[in-house]
Amino acid sequence: MLSAVKNAVVRVATRRVIKQYKDQRSRLDPAYDGLPPALWDCAVSPGGRLLIEGFDSTELARSHGTPLHVVSHARLVKNYQNFIGAFRRHYDRCVLATSYKTNPLPGVIAALHEAGTWAEAISGFELWLALKLGMAPERIILNGPGKGREAIDTAVANGIQSINLDNAEEINWTAAACSRHDRRQNVGIRVIVPGGWTSQFGMSISDGEAEGACARIAEHDKLRLCGLHVHLGTGIKDIATYVRALNEVVEFGRRLETRHGVTMDYYDFGGGFGVPTVHTFDSWDVRMLDMGVPARAAFPEACPSPDAYASSITSIVKSNHQRTDGPPPRIILEPGRAITSSAQTLLTSVITVKRSQHGRPLLIMDAGKHLTMPLGWEHHQIFAAGRMHDADQGLFDVYGPLCHPGDVVARAKNLPSMNSDDLLAIMDAGAYFIPNQMNFSHPRAGVVMVRDGAVTTIRRPEQFEDIVALDSWGPVGNERG
Ligand SMILES: Cc1ncc(COP(=O)(O)O)c(C=O)c1O
Repeated sequence: MLSAVKNAVVRVATRRVIKQYKDQRSRLDPAYDGLPPALWDCAVSPGGRLLIEGFDSTELARSHGTPLHVVSHARLVKNYQNFIGAFRRHYDRCVLATSYKTNPLPGVIAALHEAGTWAEAISGFELWLALKLGMAPERIILNGPGKGREAIDTAVANGIQSINLDNAEEINWTAAACSRHDRRQNVGIRVIVPGGWTSQFGMSISDGEAEGACARIAEHDKLRLCGLHVHLGTGIKDIATYVRALNEVVEFGRRLETRHGVTMDYYDFGGGFGVPTVHTFDSWDVRMLDMGVPARAAFPEACPSPDAYASSITSIVKSNHQRTDGPPPRIILEPGRAITSSAQTLLTSVITVKRSQHGRPLLIMDAGKHLTMPLGWEHHQIFAAGRMHDADQGLFDVYGPLCHPGDVVARAKNLPSMNSDDLLAIMDAGAYFIPNQMNFSHPRAGVVMVRDGAVTTIRRPEQFEDIVALDSWGPVGNERG
């Protein structure tokens, strides 16, 4: 009885949220749910095809096959320049370190390094990749809760800019590596503060753990504590969250300077900055989808601009610095999704259209959950890339090719009439799509980059042989009897 009442209340509340959302949306251009392709610097050809840096997406799909990621070099570099430019206008001692984990494509990372970024690595592999890409060690930061002894040893051996220590054991490992290589190493402490990710990360300021680490680091003369690191979360669209947390971090830095005589060379504020065109589902969206209503799309204007973030964040460091007489600290930023998300589009073809028993037509695409994991928790714009001028026909449920009922790409998507071989463009595929890929009986997608009027393959599509390249097996196919 109680649960029936609760369900009824939730349904009424959900209907109210749906109504509010529809009212808000009705003020926007109805085309493309109010999210026009120009938001990604894309255009539409007279024939109704989605153009990415001037390239017809249907032609790219035809010549390279699908599923296919398309990276726009111009958009990638523009995102970086807009972000760092905004911060440097307020405070010139800012650097941006590319978050490798967000999009580990070497072609994407190399393009960002070429534009001027540092490297932020969180594993032995990422550190290896940064060095392999030719990144100068003094522009590499090593983070992460599970770096391991080997990665720390490599970092020290190469003299990277700084290692942000996550736990007590890493202090010992780093000190040991310094002795082995007879080197002094810059280190920071990853701190956790209320309002940011805590779980397995860093050391808490409030219970004295982080300050205790400072004292332990001071016992090792080859470790030079010179920074603090914090990373609050991901997809954050609220400046106040940063302001509250970073004030606490900077205040702690000042305490370390006065009590322990260290100098804060840098504050590394991590990443987490939201993307205007991506909306993280909340419980209302999930309920809406359960009721057969599309989840809420992003409202781009609800996302702070880089300038708004920059103004608030840099003023915390500037006003703190006015109270000290040391040199101004550097601000290191590690935005991943804010730089790469909107520069990459996943093109996927309709394998078949099915009529479902529940009424809504189903699309079976060649890109399923194995390539689109973030669509399980985020709303992304999906365009019918070859039918941009066609009016929406209604709601579709979009599935992938995996032999699993959970292979849902998107539920209740408004699309025009669709046929086999039609193309969908999943926008904002540049953050956490590639690192979350898996096979699940299918090869992973190839990636092309469009740059200065040319198309270059930066990752060839996986072949069947690639999937088993690391395996070995005995004779097969000659069973007896
Ligand atoms: C330490 C650190 N820095 C940067 C990032 C990048 O975050 P985002 O892509 O949300 O900007 C992450 C993501 O988890 C992280 O853990």
